Amino acid sequence: MKRVLITGGAGFIGCNAARFFGERNWRVTVLDTLSRDGSDRNLDWLRDRLAFDFARVDVRERAAVDRVVAETRPDAVLHLAAQVAVTTSVADPRADFSVNALGTFNMLDAVRRFCPDAVFVFASTNKVYGKVAGARAELHGERWTLPDRPHGIGEGEPLDFLSPYGCSKGAADQYVTDFARIYGIPATSFRQSCIYGPRQLGIEDQGWVAWFAIAGVLGRGITLFGDGRQVRDVLHVDDLLRAYEAAILAPDAVAGQAFNVGGGPGNAVSLREVIAMLETRLSRRIPVRVADWRPGDQRAYVSDVEKLRRVLGWAPEIGAADGVSRLVQWVLEDRAAADRAGVAPAHADGGASTAADQAAIGGALPAGA
Ligand SMILES: NC(=O)c1ccc[n+]([C@@H]2O[C@H](COP(=O)([O-])OP(=O)(O)OC[C@H]3O[C@@H](n4cnc5c(N)ncnc54)[C@H](O)[C@@H]3O)[C@@H](O)[C@H]2O)c1
Repeated sequence: MKRVLITGGAGFIGCNAARFFGERNWRVTVLDTLSRDGSDRNLDWLRDRLAFDFARVDVRERAAVDRVVAETRPDAVLHLAAQVAVTTSVADPRADFSVNALGTFNMLDAVRRFCPDAVFVFASTNKVYGKVAGARAELHGERWTLPDRPHGIGEGEPLDFLSPYGCSKGAADQYVTDFARIYGIPATSFRQSCIYGPRQLGIEDQGWVAWFAIAGVLGRGITLFGDGRQVRDVLHVDDLLRAYEAAILAPDAVAGQAFNVGGGPGNAVSLREVIAMLETRLSRRIPVRVADWRPGDQRAYVSDVEKLRRVLGWAPEIGAADGVSRLVQWVLEDRAAADRAGVAPAHADGGASTAADQAAIGGALPAGA
């Protein structure tokens, strides 16, 4: 039986990944501190469905990381554990650096010494492209578009780390691909866009698709900053997991490569379009409050996912309307879990950029994810 080690395996993407690989007969080890609110519940949810090993370990602790990697000697590592809040990264840049940069280094270095053939997939972020200054936005009808990037933002876009969070994830992203070059580890960076799906405790400032769905079901209002025509490409977590699996099955093809992973142009949606999808699914109007644009709010961000299609034959399969409908189904079935949304950190990756973020870094933040 092949073994996968999933750091951050009790988080939103992590618990879905643990279930996905467990159901495909992988032996799963979850490594997590359970520091994210709701992660203990995700672990319980997982325990009801799967036999797996759990290590309550902090990726900053080198000796503990070494021990888990040496004991499990996994065939694949999904490195998802992270400090995900931009605001927190500004308030405490050292903590952010230690989890995201040093924590990733600890994982890579352990893999180098104990299981150098393990495929290492790192959950990077589209925020490595910063403000994407070269991509001009234009309003076309009801949507903001990127006329100079008709296929979206590709991997050739200049890297432009912004905020301590952008720097720590960006540094980790570069270490991952370099460890492939220098030490021959089949390691890859997945620069993820806005991922959504069940067990995501979205809040207004983070995981906005989930926040909208939870707000819609629970009767909370939604605030739109700006005209609501901002466009993001959204990717259902199940599609992301198929991409992780494809990478794990093709180590030579992905080693040393970075990939943009999102819904792509086919799943680029405006905020208003997502609200309309929810209203159709719920057969009722959702109260929306409109507020001013926030400084630095990006009008459009869409990933170009052509490289991932070319190299791995992967493409998103779950359309935005279908995915949003599935998300609503989860909220309806697990209101108790969804109701905890709002107690999570102020901003995590996958957000549409936030007032708190903008204030935190002086309005210079991109709304990438
Ligand atoms: N959700 C998105 O839209 C999105 C977009 C781009 C990138 N990402 C990246 O994907 C990964 C997973 O994101 P998510 O949305 O599932 O986040 P999440 O917050 O739900 O999960 C992260 C998990 O990591 C754990 N963790 C935090 N610090 C740790 C530490 N020091 N040691 C061990 N575990 C620790 C937390 O307890 C949590 O369970 C992150 O690396 C994130 O940066 C997510």
